[in-house]
Amino acid sequence: MSCQNHSLKPWNTFSLEASAAGICVADSVEALCRAWLQSQQRSEPVLLLGEGSNVLFLEDFQGQVIVNRIMGIEVTESSDAWHLHVGSGENWHALVQSTLRDGYPGLENLAMIPGCAGSAPIQNIGAYGVELEKVCEYVDIVRLADGSRQRLSAEECRFAYRDSVFKHQYREGYALIALGLRLNKIWQPVLTYGELRELDRDRVTPQQVFETVCRMRSSKLPDPAVTGNAGSFFKNPLVSAEMARQLKEQYDTIPFYPQENGEMKLAAGWLIDRCNLKGFRMGGAAVHQQQALVLINTGNATGQDVVALAREVRQRVGKKFNVWLEPEVRFISAQGETDAVEVIA
Ligand code: FAD
Ligand code: EPU
Repeated sequence: MSCQNHSLKPWNTFSLEASAAGICVADSVEALCRAWLQSQQRSEPVLLLGEGSNVLFLEDFQGQVIVNRIMGIEVTESSDAWHLHVGSGENWHALVQSTLRDGYPGLENLAMIPGCAGSAPIQNIGAYGVELEKVCEYVDIVRLADGSRQRLSAEECRFAYRDSVFKHQYREGYALIALGLRLNKIWQPVLTYGELRELDRDRVTPQQVFETVCRMRSSKLPDPAVTGNAGSFFKNPLVSAEMARQLKEQYDTIPFYPQENGEMKLAAGWLIDRCNLKGFRMGGAAVHQQQALVLINTGNATGQDVVALAREVRQRVGKKFNVWLEPEVRFISAQGETDAVEVIA
């Protein structure tokens, strides 16, 4: 465990200037629990962080940030699958690359998603037709107060669209420490999304899917190393079939995606775009030109600039479509996570 200086700028992909009372990098479960207990003893707030690619710091954080760097990847084989046990601090995209290099395909649609492997189950990361739940076998967690460990099956994780048990029952007082993945030996490409549809199912290789996904992502999503952002700022809203029908009557090009439970998922980016908000700025925060669902830091944004912009975007979309967007990004105030919808309502 090492303690660093206290600027959070290198630890959040929005590149916002904020500070913490302390920052510790924990490379083992024991170090993580120790750091957490120290904070408890000092009665200070504590925040676990992977790579900070899904957080918005609203202001300086008054407690200790524990950065998870629990590493290690072990591969075992069964008759029909490869099984990976992955330390929660491993970088997700590097993991995707290494599985392809070593001949275990199945993660290629999830290429280039920033963050740690252990953060992936929290919002059930998803892109280009695949969600983590498709390949997740289990998640290991630790109860920070006493170091006791528990393995949750994929079913127990209660995965849903950008949701899991880790945002509810296990949100406080627990850390994800490892991720178990199951990659089937018989590879079936998922070619349902965008340019992937143009690939030939019978000839395509995992590497080609990977490259196509990387190309599509690079054309729309800003690279956080260049422009601060946290990916999609809002979730795509779920509405009733009746509401979707009414919207379709008014806006015949509106995209929507039927869900298994009968609801319809709308494209928040399309709704924001139809409010002519691409490029719209408030302070140092702006709506990204190539993808309206992404809010960016143009250089010197504050957390409050991003909040003001998010509020304005939510109002404009709400007034035009009567659809009220909810942030996907987790809002962190001085004392810890705070209700993002309440902040921008
Ligand atoms: P962090 O931002 O560090 O943490 C997120 C939350 O999890 C915080 O509340 C934190 O306290 C908590 N947390 C972190 N680690 C632990 C732990 N070990 N135990 C318990 N709680 C923990 N997401 C998608 O689903 N699909 C995409 O296509 C996608 N594209 C993106 C593109 C860009 C350019 C960016 C910047 C983000 C994108 N995201 C996407 C969002 C983001 O990459 C994911 O949410 C990612 O899983 C976050 O990982 P992280 O390690 O950075 O988490
Ligand atoms: N659209 C517009 N204008 C825009 C943006 C989008 O009209 O400015 C339209 C597109 O033309 C398309 C639809 O909206 O018809 C959906 O857009 P896109 O395919 O770009 O995907 P998205 O719904 O905006 C979601 C995820 C992304 C994920 C992509 C690819 C959410 C909140 N976002 O974005 O995940 O990478 O699909 O699967 O579900 C993230 O979660 O951070 C993230 C980037």
